[in-house]
Amino acid sequence: MITLCHAVKGGSGTTVVACARAINSPGPTLLVDLDGDVPNALGIDQTSRPGVVEWLASEAPPAHLEDLLIEVTPNCALLPAREPASPGAPPTDRTERWDELVDFFTEWANDTGGSVVVDAGTRDLPTSFTEQCPQRWLVTRACYLSLRRAFHLTVRPTGVVLVAEPGRSLKARDIETSVGAPVIATVEWDIRIARQVDTGLLLGGRLPRSLHRALVGVAA
Ligand SMILES: Nc1ncnc2c1ncn2[C@@H]1O[C@H](COP(=O)(O)OP(=O)(O)OP(=O)(O)O)[C@@H](O)[C@H]1O
Ligand SMILES: [Mg+2]
Repeated sequence: MITLCHAVKGGSGTTVVACARAINSPGPTLLVDLDGDVPNALGIDQTSRPGVVEWLASEAPPAHLEDLLIEVTPNCALLPAREPASPGAPPTDRTERWDELVDFFTEWANDTGGSVVVDAGTRDLPTSFTEQCPQRWLVTRACYLSLRRAFHLTVRPTGVVLVAEPGRSLKARDIETSVGAPVIATVEWDIRIARQVDTGLLLGGRLPRSLHRALVGVAA
C-alpha cells in the first residue's frame, strides 16, 4: 500500500504525520521524502549521497534507488529527497520517471510485505503519479484559509488527517464538506510533538501517545 501525505498550506503537520505513520507501522515501511525535511525531523544524519530528487532528474535505472536508502529503524527505510531545488516545483515533469518510481514502490512493498509512506508536502506533483497512490491523505489544520485552498486541490484526497488545535471553531464535518473526503484521523496539537521535532527527537524519543494512537489505528 502506498500512502501519500500532502498539504495545501505549509506548516500543516505533514512531515510529522508521514514520519509518525512510517515509524509506527507494525511492518516494514519505506518512508519517501519528496520535500526535504524528513532527516531533520527525525534527527538523522544527512549524508552527501544523492536522493530521489536527483534520481528523478537523471537517467539512472530504478535499481539505483535501492542504493539511496538509509536505515531509520530495523523496520523503516528512508528514501531521502536530498535537494536544494526550487520549493513547490516537481523535481521532474517526465511522467515516465514518476511511473518508474511508483513501480519501485510497488515492487518494494511486494518484496517486503510492507507499506510505503510518501511525504509530498505542498509539492505540485503530476496527477499521473498521485493517482497511482491508493491512499492520499490531506493533512490540514481546521483553518478556513486551508479549506478555501482545498477547493483547488490537484491531488484528490481519499482521507483527511486533521491536526486539531485548541480553540478552532471549524469541525470535522465542515472539513469533510469542503474537502469531499472523510476525516480518517485526528492528531491533537500537542506541544510535546513540537518540542520533539525542534530537538530532532521525533525518532529518538517516544512518540507522544496521542500521536501514536491517532495514526496506528488507520487502516493501511
Ligand atoms: N500535532 C502537532 N502538535 C504540535 N506541533 C506540531 C504538530 N504537528 C506538527 N507540529 C509542528 O508544526 C510545525 C510544522 O510541522 P511539519 O513540519 O510537520 O509541517 P509540514 O506540513 O510538513 O510543513 P512544511 O510545509 O514546512 O513541509 C513543526 O514545528 C512541528 O513541530
Ligand atoms: Mg514538511
